[in-house]
Amino acid sequence: METSPPSAAEFAADRPAPGDPVPQTLLLLGASGDLAARLLLPGLGRLVASGAQPDLTLIGSGRDDWDDERWRRRVADSFAKVGADGPRETEVVRAARYVPADVTLEEDLRRLLAACHGQVVIFFALPPAITARAAAALARIGLPPGSRLMLEKPFGTDAVSARSLNDILAGLVPEDQVHRIDHFLGKSTVVNILGLRFANRIFEPVLNAAHVACVDIVFDETLGLEGRAGYYDGAGALVDMVQSHLLQVLALMAMDAPPTLDARDLRGRKAQVLRATRVWDDDPVRWSRRARYTTGEVDGRRLPAYADEPGIDPARGTETLAEVVLAVDTWRWAGVPFRLRSGKALAGTRKEAIVTFKQPPRVPTGLTGYEQPDRLRIGFGPDRLGLDVNVNGPGNPLELDQVHLMADFGPGELPPYGEVLRGAFEGDPTLSVRGDTAEDCWRIVEPVLKAWRAGTVPLQEYPAGSPGPNDSLLTPAPGEMRRP
Ligand code: BG6
Repeated sequence: METSPPSAAEFAADRPAPGDPVPQTLLLLGASGDLAARLLLPGLGRLVASGAQPDLTLIGSGRDDWDDERWRRRVADSFAKVGADGPRETEVVRAARYVPADVTLEEDLRRLLAACHGQVVIFFALPPAITARAAAALARIGLPPGSRLMLEKPFGTDAVSARSLNDILAGLVPEDQVHRIDHFLGKSTVVNILGLRFANRIFEPVLNAAHVACVDIVFDETLGLEGRAGYYDGAGALVDMVQSHLLQVLALMAMDAPPTLDARDLRGRKAQVLRATRVWDDDPVRWSRRARYTTGEVDGRRLPAYADEPGIDPARGTETLAEVVLAVDTWRWAGVPFRLRSGKALAGTRKEAIVTFKQPPRVPTGLTGYEQPDRLRIGFGPDRLGLDVNVNGPGNPLELDQVHLMADFGPGELPPYGEVLRGAFEGDPTLSVRGDTAEDCWRIVEPVLKAWRAGTVPLQEYPAGSPGPNDSLLTPAPGEMRRP
């Protein structure tokens, strides 16, 4: 029997009385995949446990021929991992349903939509090409009014495909109902950049080209591939981390103060700064690095070389470490290099944004030992704020020492995926990426991808468990401020 999504009238009839919670259905496409189990469902579990989503139905769908029981076990296991096993969460698990489907087919999508009630939130936890086909099929059959769409990164595979996906989505729902997910925007420390910068008097006046030598945004992980060959070998470190998460951090670090934190103001400010961002000197050959790990030991664990991991095609030359130096061409930042780096299987974890200030115009004669410029550090895990400053006093009172002031933040109320899901359930796109920004993020990295594809930047190697390639773009000698 042919089924169709509810009409506007049916949808209205489905509405609760004023004051009652709005019933919502989260329709999760790609439900049997890794992302759902590892991040999405645990985030959802914590959100439900917080009481924020009292009337939620969860429908999972995927090509795997699962039944409701198997799906409920998957949901319950993922909830249990984060201690989400109270009565609210148990009720969501009990009522969860699984509908096997090929989400690129109109008739399957009709069946899925007919199984939803209340307001529908569709989460595309799918590879970009399948997302585009599913969205195109949805555009042919239509969506219930008020539906919201959540799309996992990467959004498209380049600027052209991102634009065409945006065009399809624009025909489906208004832009404010599209939530392009970047879970870094759900991390409390990333959001804290706003409070730090705009609710204090002491930092903002010096965060500009007159005082800052460079800004580094670094995400070094000890984790290797972790069984994600299917996704990662087609993406690589530049697309997986830099094009998405690190550019979002750059936007928050570099943007001007928005008058409010509502979606329009905040996303407008971010978009402005990203539009002004490009590869340093427009020279991706000089200002990018790529490398992949060879066999080695990390945290006492032996890792095979990336190229030997199951499911990897070594001939693709996928990088596990990427570095790029960017310019933000605004009055505030002209001439300040933003150095972005992310790598896997490295010697240590280092996840932070570091603002390195210029040297003082003159250190008075008589004070000795000036070696390092002062730095502001914003850590993304562990979540902390640090300030490295030069002081004199202890021991020889005229000898300078650098001290490290550090404050640890408690974890956010919700994990990042809980936060971004909350945004979609509440219809607030503030923590999602606007369509034009998604295209701009591709525009920024495309010269680098092009240079890499042309082979003009060599693919270096580093042993797993090492600090990465020797000639990192981020390692000036101590005290020396190279340009950039
Ligand atoms: C993901 C990337 O988006 O972010 C992973 O695909 C990366 O490769 C991860 O490890 C890092 O985020 P988090 O939340 O684990 O710090």
